[in-house]
Amino acid sequence: MGGAAGVIYDSTTCLLRLLLLAELFVHSSTRPAHSSSLCGLFGSMIPQVDMLMSNAKKLHELSNDELSNLASMESRLHGLPNLQHTAAHFNSLKVNESLSQLHVFTQSIKLHIDWLKTAKDNFSLPSQSAEGANTHLLQLSNLINTSLKQIGEEVPQSPALSLPVASTAFDVLRFSVELSEQLQIFSKWSKRVLRHLQRQSHCPRH
Ligand SMILES: *[C@@H]1O[C@H](CO)[C@@H](O)[C@H](O)[C@H]1NC(C)=O
Ligand SMILES: *[C@@H]1O[C@H](CO)[C@@H](O)[C@H](O)[C@H]1NC(C)=O
Ligand SMILES: *[C@@H]1O[C@H](CO)[C@@H](O)[C@H](O)[C@H]1NC(C)=O
Repeated sequence: MGGAAGVIYDSTTCLLRLLLLAELFVHSSTRPAHSSSLCGLFGSMIPQVDMLMSNAKKLHELSNDELSNLASMESRLHGLPNLQHTAAHFNSLKVNESLSQLHVFTQSIKLHIDWLKTAKDNFSLPSQSAEGANTHLLQLSNLINTSLKQIGEEVPQSPALSLPVASTAFDVLRFSVELSEQLQIFSKWSKRVLRHLQRQSHCPRH
């Protein structure tokens, strides 16, 4: 009798162990799938950032000589993100924090580029590069949005900005030069952030 009870007891614990193992297996196998879709999103953001960089360089049509004549001008757009380049800063950020920050900065840059496009249109200046940059900023923003939702993080509010009126074509030119530089800095910074996020999420290298 006692022997039979022992067998039943043993097989029950055995079954429990199996269930536990199965549970553990399900958990450990869903985790990589979760981060692999994040990795896919990060991977799709990088070409958008590359396209941003090439549009950034074309935001004005000035030669290097012409640019150096404008070099002494001061910055007049004060709402631009203050990007921190230090490695220590990146290393201190969690994935959710980096993504939130990337989203806020992308929105802020996008508002500036929208504004530049209107300013250029106001003076009938070519605005294809601003439009191109805008398209890629929008796609980047959508991808960040999706990533934030994926990790259950709230999508942060867009910053409120008051931008100056560009009252002359020369104003527009100066703003184009300033935004061209800032957009290049932003593109480089974003790419570093994305590479860092890929490492943090153990994304496979290509
Ligand atoms: C990011 O996630 C951590 C937990 O992993 C949490 O403590 C922190 O508040 C989150 N940060 C933001 C900005 O949501
Ligand atoms: C473009 O023109 C409109 C109408 O004159 C004006 O309200 C707006 O402020 C101008 N935009 C910029 C960026 O200067
Ligand atoms: C991001 O998501 C928020 C809330 O879900 C939405 O209101 C916003 O329009 C989205 N932004 C973009 C650029 O898709």
